[in-house]
Amino acid sequence: MATAKAHTNIALVKYWGKKDPKLILPQTDSLSLTLNEFYTTTTVNFKSELDADHVSIDGQLIDKADAKKVIHVLELVRSMSGINSFAEVTSTNHVPTAAGLASSASAFAALAGAASVAAGLHLSRRDLSKLARRGSGSATRSIYGGLVEWQKGVDDASSFAKPIAEDVAFPIEMLAVLINTKKKKVSSRSGMQLSVSTSPYYEAWKKVVARDMTAIKAAIKAKDIDKIGHIAEENALRMHALTLSADPGFTYFNGETLAIIKTVEDLRSHGINCYYTMDAGPNVKVIYDRANRDKIVARLADIIGYDRLVVSQPGPGIKIWNE
Ligand code: DP6
Repeated sequence: MATAKAHTNIALVKYWGKKDPKLILPQTDSLSLTLNEFYTTTTVNFKSELDADHVSIDGQLIDKADAKKVIHVLELVRSMSGINSFAEVTSTNHVPTAAGLASSASAFAALAGAASVAAGLHLSRRDLSKLARRGSGSATRSIYGGLVEWQKGVDDASSFAKPIAEDVAFPIEMLAVLINTKKKKVSSRSGMQLSVSTSPYYEAWKKVVARDMTAIKAAIKAKDIDKIGHIAEENALRMHALTLSADPGFTYFNGETLAIIKTVEDLRSHGINCYYTMDAGPNVKVIYDRANRDKIVARLADIIGYDRLVVSQPGPGIKIWNE
């Protein structure tokens, strides 16, 4: 039996499309910031008396269809370790689930960590990152803290995350604006697949990401928060252009998303630098230098209320322990 705690991450250069949906090999590299405030704790116990895998998330037993991705990772761990038993999986999210706050990132990273150690495997961080990837692409990056790069690779062995700066030595902060914490309509899995197969802009997106990866790594080296924020904002808008240009077209934004975007732009035009990014849901994440935090929070609270704002520092990598 083992427990793992993994933090979620928000991509500054997004992963939006798979080359190999079965192995979850991405079309592009991506880069993220792991967040301190949002995490998942998961305990895995392989028990010989079980006749099936039992998965419970936030106190609710999940049926077999919904637990499919979890069972897939457990199957991989069984085949890697030679264990035949089914497992009891108990997971708690400290993240509003399925609202584009990337809970699958922390969830599958924690699952990979807990299941592998519970099965007696002692995987390197790199191998853990690959195992987490098989559950959900963004989980690849949640093995590490701080700023993390996922190198797309060409096969299972070469597609894993690498830390760029686990301890972020500059005052970057991220504010999550919780717009809708209800379950989203189009999963990232199907949304990105539709974008790859139908958006006429997909080839251009691959070029955008290659350029953004180089530029953001230079900005990180220079500790230039404005440049990092600007690249992240542009990259997010271009990712969302892939959803609008898919067939059928769709968007994760709602009216409140647009109102927050406008507020961030207004703050900026008044000399308070901050930048936005959005994932597969309506929530907005705002990137800024923490010196600007109070002004940004006060302005956004006027629009949406303090209780829907969560300030987060960069967070740590995965922790795993035997029970
Ligand atoms: C918009 O990792 O949830 O958050 O690999 O199909 O499980 P699957 O998708 P998922 O997609 C994340 C998409 C994103 C961007 C990102 O995190 O890079």
